[in-house]
Amino acid sequence: MIPSDVKATLSFSDGSPNMDLPLYKGTIGPDVIDIRKLYAQTGKFTYDPGFLSTASCNSTITYIDGDKGELLYRGYPIEQLATSCDYLETCYLLLYGELPNPAQKEEFVARVTNHTMVNEQMQFFLRGFRRDAHPMAVMTGLVGAMSAFYHDSTDINNPEHREIAAIRLIAKMPTLVAMAYKYTVGQPYIYPKNDLSYAGNFMRMMFATPCEDYKPNDVLVRAMDRIFILHADHEQNASTSTVRLCGSSGTNPFAAIAAGVACLWGPAHGGANEAALNMLEDIQRNGGVAKIGEFIKQVKDKNSGVKLMGFGHRVYKNYDPRAKLMRETCHEVLDELGLHNDPMFKLAMELEKIALEDEYFVARKLYPNVDFYSGIVQRAIGIPVPLFTAIFSLARTVGWIAQLNEMIGDPEYKIGRPRQLYVGATARNVKPIGER
Ligand code: ACO
Repeated sequence: MIPSDVKATLSFSDGSPNMDLPLYKGTIGPDVIDIRKLYAQTGKFTYDPGFLSTASCNSTITYIDGDKGELLYRGYPIEQLATSCDYLETCYLLLYGELPNPAQKEEFVARVTNHTMVNEQMQFFLRGFRRDAHPMAVMTGLVGAMSAFYHDSTDINNPEHREIAAIRLIAKMPTLVAMAYKYTVGQPYIYPKNDLSYAGNFMRMMFATPCEDYKPNDVLVRAMDRIFILHADHEQNASTSTVRLCGSSGTNPFAAIAAGVACLWGPAHGGANEAALNMLEDIQRNGGVAKIGEFIKQVKDKNSGVKLMGFGHRVYKNYDPRAKLMRETCHEVLDELGLHNDPMFKLAMELEKIALEDEYFVARKLYPNVDFYSGIVQRAIGIPVPLFTAIFSLARTVGWIAQLNEMIGDPEYKIGRPRQLYVGATARNVKPIGER
């Protein structure tokens, strides 16, 4: 953090002394006001539910300019990474700070590939779930359970443990997601095949059966790989902040990532891709394109509780750059599969067009986010809707682990412990039960 020449002064109208607060500069983006000594010096807390104005940490990993619609991983624009690199190169970049050279890439890919199998015992653990359990419920359990299987990488304070836990998590998430899927449909698990690419291997574990192999299609594999890249990290979003907070207690990396999976599940976050597709299916069922006007009316009515899923973002007040790339991928996939006349895609296009022109959305700077398109792409590939968020969790695991490791390596790191404005009852005495 670079100290700024500017200082902020906090003054109070009740005559309490002013307090000077230091400012720090980042390499890009807004400066921060350092309030760490505020409570000690004034006896007051700051109040910022939802973290609208609060930086919870400093980080070198991901930068978002929400007004410009810009996303950088370690300084590289997402558009360049999505078109010039694959997911495992992106993982290397997020974990170690630089893109790999060919030798580094080969070694990293070999290391990840070497860890794609999960402990055989894991399938018996999986059997305890109902067949119709939501994949995110299963994933929360499976990822949490990893700490019971890999005892030699659970010490968060040991850099070697953190490194091996990172590799294991990146390598095993595709296997676990595919197992969660196979369990739901009652098919045998398909073991990883290490001569395939990361995305290709995942798709084969999803779609092959013991009686029929799956030949990965290049366009679809590239689309899946792009989904992974676009979801790999997104600075201090809800699930990443959850992972950091959970990890700040010193818990093991698998437990911290399981907390991230649980947070991601919510429809305001990773669950939005599933919710967006369910929304499109609902509109389709109830009259399709002809009913968009009616649906938009409902969305604009605050009492209806209806939101246009896949639209809006806390940080992006411009087109989400990931949505642009996903839109492009969507066209490629639908072309490849001859699905361009797919009614769901047409509906999504029409909905996007109407929303982008509507005063309600324009005034609030609500644009499509990545989830608006990723659902359509995944559905076209053949991924069942309830699995969308699990795939997001697979892709985001590298971001979570990079952020967790960054936090643990930061000499300033402390257990996360927010404070509150207490507005409940003041101290009172318990009455005997007969007098209450
Ligand atoms: N549909 C209709 N209105 C919306 C939407 C939407 N999708 N999103 C925001 N608004 C409205 C709000 O009602 C609010 O209106 P008001 O000012 O009249 O009260 C205004 O736009 C500002 O929205 P906030 O809710 O204050 O924005 P916030 O930053 O808290 O929420 C969020 C962001 C949660 C993503 C929200 O836009 C939303 O729920 N979107 C739909 C779910 C979704 O797609 N989530 C995916 C996020 S991206 C990701 O996780 C990969």
